Amino acid sequence: HRGLTGIAGLAPHQIWFLLDEAEQWVEMNRGAQKRVELLSGMTIINAFFENSTRTLLSFEIAGKRLGADVVNMAVATSSVKKGETLIDTAMTLNAMRADAIVIRHASSGAVQLIADKVDCPVLNAGDGQHEHPTQALLDALTIRQAKRAFNGLRVTICGDILHSRVARSNILCLASLGADVRVCAPPALMPADIEQMGVTVFHDFDAALKGADVVMMLRLQMERMEGQFIPSPREYRHLYGLTLDRLELAESNALVMHPGPMNRGVEIDSNVADHVERSMITTQVEMGVAIRMACLDVLTRKGRKMEGWA
Ligand code: CP
Repeated sequence: HRGLTGIAGLAPHQIWFLLDEAEQWVEMNRGAQKRVELLSGMTIINAFFENSTRTLLSFEIAGKRLGADVVNMAVATSSVKKGETLIDTAMTLNAMRADAIVIRHASSGAVQLIADKVDCPVLNAGDGQHEHPTQALLDALTIRQAKRAFNGLRVTICGDILHSRVARSNILCLASLGADVRVCAPPALMPADIEQMGVTVFHDFDAALKGADVVMMLRLQMERMEGQFIPSPREYRHLYGLTLDRLELAESNALVMHPGPMNRGVEIDSNVADHVERSMITTQVEMGVAIRMACLDVLTRKGRKMEGWA
């Protein structure tokens, strides 16, 4: 059945199709009438086993704006706390005949595990260090609206690449669309096999910024660093923080992006995050609702033609 477990399973034309589909929802969401009844009668379950602000709310808003009934599973007060397994939880949701299930989980591969057990499309809202496909799609839509084309576009992704599902999905998505992707991190926060992903690797942030058209900053994921090297925030900002001075090294119209949540004053300074002309951070959130509407619509509505969609 159809689902969205990662960017890895998508062909470039499928990514482009989802971006095109999202454009109509960007327009609608900016108007006074923000609801259509396309998914009327359908039930979407959001099961978030890890914290979220943007992804959870935007999936909820997306489902409701398409007319679906959206239920958020309250994991903290659920039977997961009594020891129910992930698979038993998935089978329980399946028995309630959901039309789509959206999952966030701290373990890489947990979403695929659930997708293999249920009858409806499963959408990955972030699984461990693996993928966060809708984040990459909303980032691509944000970039496309500002820059139009991806071919040869220099995108610098800087931060905790090792633990970041956002980095992984973005690398797959941007490389698939033809961008020139650069990644920058301290050696301890760079995956050993990163070069196999077709990116250029930097450890010197100033060098990685030179000529960049897009600068995407990521936070240090302390929750995934137990027992590992943790740089001090002060030292990290000195070497890898995006300051106004550093931004000068990039192209004069370079976009600044961050998936959130931000650690202001660590990986990004406030005067960069809030830069009126350059920062795309609130636009990313806006695109997130539109992209999630497109994904829910394409994956659930019967009879949609989408060549090669597995
Ligand atoms: N970007 C992102 O996934 O944010 P949340 O963790 O708040 O959903």
